Amino acid sequence: MSTTDSSLYAPVNGYPSEPFRASRLTASRFKRSPVIVALVMIALTASAVAADKVAVSVDVSKAGPKIDRNIFGQFAEHLGHGIYEGVWVGPGSSIPNTRGIRNDVVAALKAIKVPNVRWPGGCFADEYHWRNGIGPADKRVVTLNPNWGGVIEPNTFGTHEFMDFVDQIGAEPYVSVNVGSGTPREASEWLEYMTTAQPTTLQKERAANGHPAPYKVPYLGVGNESWDCGGNMSPDYYLSQLKIYSHFVRNYNPAQQDKDQMLKIAVGPGGDEPRYVEWTDTIMKAWQHHQWSWDMNGLSMHSYTVGSFPPVYKSVGFGEADYSKILQLTLQMDGLIGKYSAIMDKYDPDKKITLVVDEWGAWYAPLPGSNPGFLVQQNSIRDAVLASLNLNIFARHAERVRMANIAQMINVLQAMIMTDKEKMVLTPTYHVFKMYVPFQNATFVPVTFDAGTYKNGDISLPRLDAIAAKDTKGKLWLAITNVDPNQPVEIDASVSGINAKSASGETLTAPQVDSVNTFDAPNTVAPKAISAKAEGGKLVLTVPPKSVTVVSVDQ
Ligand code: AHR
Repeated sequence: MSTTDSSLYAPVNGYPSEPFRASRLTASRFKRSPVIVALVMIALTASAVAADKVAVSVDVSKAGPKIDRNIFGQFAEHLGHGIYEGVWVGPGSSIPNTRGIRNDVVAALKAIKVPNVRWPGGCFADEYHWRNGIGPADKRVVTLNPNWGGVIEPNTFGTHEFMDFVDQIGAEPYVSVNVGSGTPREASEWLEYMTTAQPTTLQKERAANGHPAPYKVPYLGVGNESWDCGGNMSPDYYLSQLKIYSHFVRNYNPAQQDKDQMLKIAVGPGGDEPRYVEWTDTIMKAWQHHQWSWDMNGLSMHSYTVGSFPPVYKSVGFGEADYSKILQLTLQMDGLIGKYSAIMDKYDPDKKITLVVDEWGAWYAPLPGSNPGFLVQQNSIRDAVLASLNLNIFARHAERVRMANIAQMINVLQAMIMTDKEKMVLTPTYHVFKMYVPFQNATFVPVTFDAGTYKNGDISLPRLDAIAAKDTKGKLWLAITNVDPNQPVEIDASVSGINAKSASGETLTAPQVDSVNTFDAPNTVAPKAISAKAEGGKLVLTVPPKSVTVVSVDQ
């Protein structure tokens, strides 16, 4: 049985018109979880329980599409401590920084080779006015952030700081313009400000603000959730806006006029409800016969693993029932992508338009004591498993899904990194993104296996998931996720097309289904070395329960 059978997965719930926009001004930081230091348990669990054997077969000669590195993109919104404190501490801070951007965070993000960062929102983008965020820091307009806790928005992190940040981490900017409460003129002037090389008044202003050279803007989001917090528009109304913005919001950078043109990403579906089908159909149908004067290159899709809004699932302090439920919910991503890809295929059989899953990840109940508007949650081994399952789904849909952005990069929802003033901790999800670096721009290689079933109560899930790919240097990589939190799995892999002699890499597991990393115990969930034996031309390795394993194959 293939693990990609989308009929296994029920439809995704839609999500709310008014998520957690509480206006509490107090922002208590997330609480540390109880310290769980029992690494030795991992080894004991894996060896004490007899492993089931699963035959996996990889045929390197049957190479598929490229797994675009942009599927490993990040989303960073002005929300809680996602930007302020998470990225920006200001040049005067005692936290080591470069031009106000914290050095520890930059180093950590460089290590996972972030391809692109979506900014400034989210719902925040639907109300963002770029002029508030340029010019001398002490003259910036101070506003509010009504979407997220109603807190003060100092605007000290604006266009130049964002561009500096993505430059420091080696990523590309994905800028979302304000279609909700902005105007085409405001957006078009922002693009001129960022991208023109000609001596216009806006170019001179940019130069006076410290950046004479034009910025590159490779990705442009034309609105955000315009069916909801982005203006509650109907599909037809948004389509009119899209045509206007797409025509007038130009990129003037001389280096982006031909093959490096800015890609415009339209608002797409946000769930499984009929209204999103209508939305997708309206946009794609119009695009099929679009005039020269407007175009788009991507259609956004948002899908959180949440269950229902407001979120009730806990991010820490849960048991196997919630572990299996959340993973069941997350696997709905496959069906959702399949559904919208089918609509896109109708109007775009050549797959010119990318399905950009630019908000995805787990959305849990806010940590007790935190500002509910700050969307603070912990990140456990369950989230690592969840991340790998989604990345695998994106890889399997590589022909259509060429970009994705996990929500959100730091301190918000399913974060890579958590900070508390000068402290920083890497989450289990971060480790998965690091382990998956070799899959960036790698060529998809089909894998077949009988996943078997993991059961908990009335929940049945494919026990195992796996993808394979050849990296840009031709090396074969295998990523294996063992969903079963109790049983190790012995992988018996036959690899045809190369002479596989051994495999080595890393595995990520943890003592409990809700094990997390904290500032006091940052390595409870950290990758460990793993290797495979070669037996009779086959690779044999045992992956621990609830684990993500990535190995490269030596020939
Ligand atoms: O990621 C949090 C919010 O979720 C975003 O601001 C919005 O686009 C979505 O509703």
